[in-house]
Amino acid sequence: MRRGSLLQLLSLTVAAFAIGAVIALVIPWMPSAASKEAGRIWFTYWFATWISLGIFAIVFAVLVYALLKFRVREGDLSDGPPVHGHTKLEIVWTAVPFALVTAISIVSAIVVAQNGHAGRDPLVVKVTAQQFAWKFTYPNGKTYDDALRLPEDRHVKLRITSNDVIHSFWVPQFGQKQDAVPGQVYSLVITPTKVGTYPLICTELCGLGHALMRSRAVVMPAADYDAWYERAGSAAPPAAGGGAGGGAEDAAATFTQNGCGACHVFSAIPGATGKVGPSLDHLKRAAASAGEDDLSAYVKESIVDPNKVVAPGYQPGVMPPNFAQQIPPDKLDALVQYLVEHTK
Ligand code: CUA
Repeated sequence: MRRGSLLQLLSLTVAAFAIGAVIALVIPWMPSAASKEAGRIWFTYWFATWISLGIFAIVFAVLVYALLKFRVREGDLSDGPPVHGHTKLEIVWTAVPFALVTAISIVSAIVVAQNGHAGRDPLVVKVTAQQFAWKFTYPNGKTYDDALRLPEDRHVKLRITSNDVIHSFWVPQFGQKQDAVPGQVYSLVITPTKVGTYPLICTELCGLGHALMRSRAVVMPAADYDAWYERAGSAAPPAAGGGAGGGAEDAAATFTQNGCGACHVFSAIPGATGKVGPSLDHLKRAAASAGEDDLSAYVKESIVDPNKVVAPGYQPGVMPPNFAQQIPPDKLDALVQYLVEHTK
């Protein structure tokens, strides 16, 4: 090969690689990693991407060079030279991809192994998915539904399960997804590295409220987390079973913990703006049009047996039919009372 041709090929390769590199680097393809695991996954991604870019540049250069250099001249009707393979070339184009794919496999295997490693003393948080809300239970037995709070720079082992259908846990900045399957508990290790608040998303179609099944992951500095955890642990436990006072607060908590606001509008509770099911602001009218005089009985029946009376304009089979098993009887009664008192 002449020196001039080699130089042309080389400059085409460099140009193609430069264009690829600009597209790879300028566009923010990934959220910035907020955990060690995500950092490793991003590394694997870029490792494979740079290799692919190199191959793309070489293939692109050879293709463009061949198109320009060896195109048929006008009036040339002769056949091309007969070529019967090239052993050296074939060895090279088998060995190089083999080496590259092996390298990607090894890097991936190391990352998968490291990402499953929770260390000796991980913080274990139970994550429970349910149509259409997330619940987080800490080692002190306390359950939160507003956010998954995690300390910075500590191994966290999430134990993920579901109460009803298959959901999937995803915080984009943590890089991993894990299905939440009823009857199974799956682990996911996260080691947060960046303080901040990140979206926590259900990423498995789980029903009409799927798009609204969102929460937050809050990564706190270790000291702040310890202070929060201590405070949470020493506070009086939530009134279990009909203690005097706090009834309305309890009922509101039951409402949010069960994800009611993801599907229903209810003005008494901030954030209850779901449009999947009927509004709960006008239950009296709904009961009347269903021919039901006892509002409490109507509301309770609508929660535990949602398909018996379906509001006009809505479909049966949408609301989970298992709330009678999910909500203890005393909490259910408190919730019914709360709804009756706060509706119009
Ligand atoms: Cu839960 Cu989608």
